[in-house]
Amino acid sequence: MNAPNPASSVPAVAQPVAAPLTRAAIFLILKMNPGPEHLESIRKFCGDLSAVIRAVEFRDLEGGLSCILGFGADAWGQLFGLPRPAELHSFREIRAGARHAVSTPGDLLFHIRAKRMDLCFELATQIMARIGGAVSPVDEVHGFRYFDDRDLLGFVDGTENPRGDEAMNAVLIGDEDPVFASGSYVIVQKYVHDLDAWNKLPTEVQERIIGRKKLSDIELDDSVKPTSAHSALTTIVENGEEKKILRDNMPFGRAGHGEFGTYFIGYSRSPRTIEQMLENMFIGRPAGNYDRLLDFSRALTGNLFFVPSASFLDAVSAGDPTNAASSPEPAESTKSSVAKSDSSLTIGSLKGDLSHE
Ligand code: HEM
Repeated sequence: MNAPNPASSVPAVAQPVAAPLTRAAIFLILKMNPGPEHLESIRKFCGDLSAVIRAVEFRDLEGGLSCILGFGADAWGQLFGLPRPAELHSFREIRAGARHAVSTPGDLLFHIRAKRMDLCFELATQIMARIGGAVSPVDEVHGFRYFDDRDLLGFVDGTENPRGDEAMNAVLIGDEDPVFASGSYVIVQKYVHDLDAWNKLPTEVQERIIGRKKLSDIELDDSVKPTSAHSALTTIVENGEEKKILRDNMPFGRAGHGEFGTYFIGYSRSPRTIEQMLENMFIGRPAGNYDRLLDFSRALTGNLFFVPSASFLDAVSAGDPTNAASSPEPAESTKSSVAKSDSSLTIGSLKGDLSHE
């Protein structure tokens, strides 16, 4: 078993959750096939993933390729047992009126990003070449960047994302769950829009639904912004502090099929923040004061995954599934600022820095 030396003071290195926005992305959700041999090959693959990413990345070092691997609650239990990430559970569906945040199956999430779709596609192909026999595809979405970083509703999407240290602080687990420091939680939902109905709305009405001006992307003044605006309901303030998440939504679609969608993906150090936003959107704050975006958008999927640190993944190999979680707890001096991967760091970069048996 390749396990990090528990005595090491090397802090865990995060997967590149805060990689910069890219022009292309693939969201690949897989289910694990039953049987111990399949669990074994997926565990073995975890330790090899960084090498596979490096091989594809090297074909165009300017291409900004990155890949995040996340695990669903059931999959975690089967693959790694105990200890478990403190807040890992299945996505909780929400029903309110005609609105339904569905919970759908999914054991593994690969969030692959690059400046070019061919790089994303090549990495997805190589991943499936390695674990294709052990998994079954559940959903695969190829996202593209649309004009001015807009969604297909025509609004700029991503403006209020935290940046730099604020982003790291929003997404990476720290002292609250030290065994899983530098890990993160991610929630994904695949939405399709009724664009015909949306486009019939006057621009001013659309702006009040989103809470921002359509052309300039400037936030509406509080005096005119409804409390049901999307940007109002997704603003969470606790003890005077705004709780941020990191989104990397992507448009997708098939024009010939009349399919126009937004793939929502949000990273956070606690899933509770995103769950609270979803409750505000679907149920309303207060109840009934819901997000009118949902009158024009339907969620087709909903999943919650835990994204362990890159150090954790590097340390997993076939064999005892529990050892990797004993990755080194950050040294006292680094506890509140766990190691963060920067945008250029692929998840395997520190592979050689951990002590191996
Ligand atoms: C139909 C799917 C969605 C679309 C088209 C969409 C679109 C947008 C747009 C256009 C903005 C304003 C610009 C910006 O700050 O990014 C925004 C803001 C935001 N959205 Fe969404 N969104 C969707 C779903 C969600 C979901 C499911 C969540 C969380 C559960 C969410 C969380 C947020 C947050 C936190 C902000 C920033 C609010 C602020 O601080 O002003 N969005 N979204």
